[in-house]
Amino acid sequence: MLTTLTDSAEEAAVLLNSGRIVAFPTETVYGLGAGIAHPEAIRQVFLAKGRPGDNPLIVHIYSVEQLPDVASEINPEAKKLIEHFFPGPLTLVLKKNPLVPDTVTAGLQTVGVRCPANPVARELLRLAHCPVAAPSANLSGLPSATSWEAVYQDLEGKIDCVLRGQPSSIGLESTIVDCSGSKAVLLRAGAITLEQLQAVVPEISTNTNQNKLEPPKSPGLKYPHYAPKAEIVLCCPEEKRAVTPSSAYIGLSDPPEGVLIVKLCKNLEEYGRELFSFFRHCDSKNIGVIYCELPSPCGLGRAIRDRLMRAAGQQ
Ligand code: TXA
Ligand code: MG
Repeated sequence: MLTTLTDSAEEAAVLLNSGRIVAFPTETVYGLGAGIAHPEAIRQVFLAKGRPGDNPLIVHIYSVEQLPDVASEINPEAKKLIEHFFPGPLTLVLKKNPLVPDTVTAGLQTVGVRCPANPVARELLRLAHCPVAAPSANLSGLPSATSWEAVYQDLEGKIDCVLRGQPSSIGLESTIVDCSGSKAVLLRAGAITLEQLQAVVPEISTNTNQNKLEPPKSPGLKYPHYAPKAEIVLCCPEEKRAVTPSSAYIGLSDPPEGVLIVKLCKNLEEYGRELFSFFRHCDSKNIGVIYCELPSPCGLGRAIRDRLMRAAGQQ
């Protein structure tokens, strides 16, 4: 299949509205979209990514007015989170409207809903005739794509169109909060931090105490994620390791001696923004080991830590 590259949201929307699959920029990572009214397009999204069918997709909306089309119940906690953080890098898991196809939610009775803030994403969603289901626009298991070039590298020939935009300003996938039960639960850390969520919904809990015998609440979290080909070695700021040849380093403090490629980040925001593109860059240079400084789990550090632990196979 020919993959069209375009800067025009109008052109991308015409394709989306005719049942094609279109990658588009968001402030978190690029998404691979299909209109939820197009079952064959939804199937193509799973196929193009090599994504297991039991891993549900997030539904993207332009405006909160579309929420009733997607969700059947919005409890008071969800209402508060929507008021504070929509549009933005937050996904809410809500009881689903029966009209949302089971293929989108992988048979779950809940649906993940997000309203992105990125202006190009908003323009595309405004022109779309229905809400847009979209996972991250990368091959399953690889780091999410934070630039159109990374999308093209993974999915050229497998998708209909890439709507080109700027590199993602956050670079990490959205925070996911489950508001479908009696108590809000943080399922995936992201740029909306636990501290920010607690300021709005003080009773929110984290997913870490989940009974291991229960099926995972967020099916995707059981799959390996974000992993480059290189081995990921987590290190603390004070640790000085014996460095393997052909290694790289990303972190906030000085690197160990002898690494070939260094990405020294000024702050957590830069660390989050650069992480996945650094992984991809290291793979293109055949780096064997990437040393990654593990930040403390405060603020954005929680999300970066989560992605690093998953990339290292420790979660
Ligand atoms: O920032 C993001 O969230 C990006 C952009 C494109 O919006 N999307 C993204 O999608 O990261 P994806 O498919 O790579 O990750 C979505 C995660 C998966 O772990 C999936 O299992 C979970 O959200 N999820 C989706 N629907 C869910 C539901 N109803 N209940 C629990 N988890 C759900
Ligand atoms: Mg993903």
